[in-house]
Amino acid sequence: MKKLAKLTLVLALAFAMAFTFAACGGGSSSEDAASSAASGSAAGASLTATEGELHMATNAAFPPYEMTTDDGGFEGIDVEIATELAKKLDLELVVDDMDFAAVLTAVQSGKSDIAMAGLTVTEERKKNVDFTDTYAKGVQSIIVKEGSDIKGPDDLKGKKIGCQEGTTGYIYCADDFGEDSVNSYNNGATAVQALVGDKVDAVVIDNNPAKEFVKANDGLILLDTAYAEEDYAIGVSKDNPELTKAVNDALKELIEDGTVDKIVQKYIKAE
Ligand code: ARG
Repeated sequence: MKKLAKLTLVLALAFAMAFTFAACGGGSSSEDAASSAASGSAAGASLTATEGELHMATNAAFPPYEMTTDDGGFEGIDVEIATELAKKLDLELVVDDMDFAAVLTAVQSGKSDIAMAGLTVTEERKKNVDFTDTYAKGVQSIIVKEGSDIKGPDDLKGKKIGCQEGTTGYIYCADDFGEDSVNSYNNGATAVQALVGDKVDAVVIDNNPAKEFVKANDGLILLDTAYAEEDYAIGVSKDNPELTKAVNDALKELIEDGTVDKIVQKYIKAE
């Protein structure tokens, strides 16, 4: 009997220790609770389409906002801001690279969680997706060949203009000068190649990508006059207001603590 009592005591102690260990390891269980709350799965549902991941729909041919790296990765202002956003939400960023014209539909259909693509806020687009606060300004600018007689937006009348498909540049030019005056290209670089090859007389595109394209091609200049000024923001599905709020709150923090500025300055050197 004595022996049995001893054994029971030992077993009880072992159990108690096992429980204590579980409770200590419970540091991780409370962490789990915190992370699932952050990724919105507290109520069982994930904040994003794929649990633990934040999918960013973009068109990675738009330097300095998004571009591919030599080793097949992605970089740029949007990519880095999205990486920081994902960190704050305890999610892993996945870049979904596609045609720009597909970016909003990807978010609407739930294939991607956010659209971040130097994406301009427009009334038309607001009907299809929700936007966060603005994190950058864009200016639609005009690239021409050196010696061109196009000196400003008014001179675009009667000319052939190259634009990237689905962009605000395309929409403005088609509205102002007629669809027949605008050739649309898969990305900004091919529009610029069309200008180099005299297929179009000018390219209308956002100013920071424009600067990169002019730098990369001899004989091109960027006109000083702005065609249109716009705001960039992140698009989120109208069906996921929780995600819009979470992303917007995180974005606000990154703007306030200077992270967004630091990322922008890394890619856009002050003139
Ligand atoms: N800001 C313009 C727009 O929203 C052009 C954006 C193009 N972005 C890109 N990643 N290709 O229509």
